[in-house]
Amino acid sequence: MLVLGIESSCDETGIALYDTGRGLLSHALYSQIAMHAEYGGVVPELASRDHIRRALPLTQQVLDETGLLLRDIDGIAYTQGPGLSGALLVGTSIAEALAFALNIPTVGVHHLEGHLLAPLLEQKPPVFPFVALLVSGGHTQLMRVSGIGDYELLGDTLDDAAGEAFDKTAKLLGLGYPGGPAVSKLAAKGKAGRFKLPRPLLNSGDLNFSFSGLKTAVLTLTNENALDEQTKADIAYEFQEAVTEVLTTKCMNALRETGLDSLIVSGGVGANQRLRERLNQAARRKLCYVHYPRPEFCTDNGAMIAFAGAMRMQNAIEGNHGFTVKPRWDLAELHSP
Ligand code: KG4
Ligand code: ZN
Repeated sequence: MLVLGIESSCDETGIALYDTGRGLLSHALYSQIAMHAEYGGVVPELASRDHIRRALPLTQQVLDETGLLLRDIDGIAYTQGPGLSGALLVGTSIAEALAFALNIPTVGVHHLEGHLLAPLLEQKPPVFPFVALLVSGGHTQLMRVSGIGDYELLGDTLDDAAGEAFDKTAKLLGLGYPGGPAVSKLAAKGKAGRFKLPRPLLNSGDLNFSFSGLKTAVLTLTNENALDEQTKADIAYEFQEAVTEVLTTKCMNALRETGLDSLIVSGGVGANQRLRERLNQAARRKLCYVHYPRPEFCTDNGAMIAFAGAMRMQNAIEGNHGFTVKPRWDLAELHSP
């Protein structure tokens, strides 16, 4: 079964072709980062308009790369939520219109389910059940994943998401958007020991997170110090140490509490090299395994949506081509296909 995946929940148009027999055939991405950068964050209306410009040319591109035609597609998966409503509507209406014209089924995919299943696109995929750390711009969650659609929330952030904390810290340090890669690049030039930031909820005894206090502590440092390049790098270094220490400790606690030996990490912050270093080190000590999507599939992409949709397609076919988007959508509402 050949599935076309369409991702348009935020500032990236991602399109992919996934075949249930042959695997991922092709994927293409257009990132709007440069367009939003001058505003310091995503401008929803600009995002929607750009998705309209990109979605069909990218679809043609993935078809051309594989030598396939529109009529070869058996079903279309699209991100139905959560995300920006206008942006979601673009992908959703293109998917439904194409599917109507081709007389094929569609499936609306939960964006976070896409992120959760992204490591399954890799060579040595993790085997269910496993613990998942979902760390993106909007979410910081630990989950027990027992199968497709079988997700139990183990811990969540009480306030800001880890990616949001990276983005806000980047703003305080006068760095560009998105903040994560900029902060981590600067942190590489930072020195240990000059500043000390809190490790929120490190010993809270549960699997929850909190990052807003950390952002306030960074604000205090930026107010109290002259922000020359080295000072900014030293703050970025300590900030990254604080976030990655908390994330790593809670992941190891989650593995211990569930008795599982396999962890997957997904979402934009999962691309962070320091986080990977720490998780790999800690997991080795516990004789556990960590799986990551390739860096380009940590952030938003069409491949994860095509894959999640393909997994659901046979059982969860939506045939009437009417549609709604779900800008707010709790992952806990999902069921197994
Ligand atoms: O998963 P994603 O592309 O979008 C959603 O939020 O769904 O994640 C984007 C987030 C942003 O907050 C960005 O700053 C962060 O991931 N990010 C990183 C890195 N790359 C992206 N954070 C830390 N280190 C990185 N290398
Ligand atoms: Zn995402």
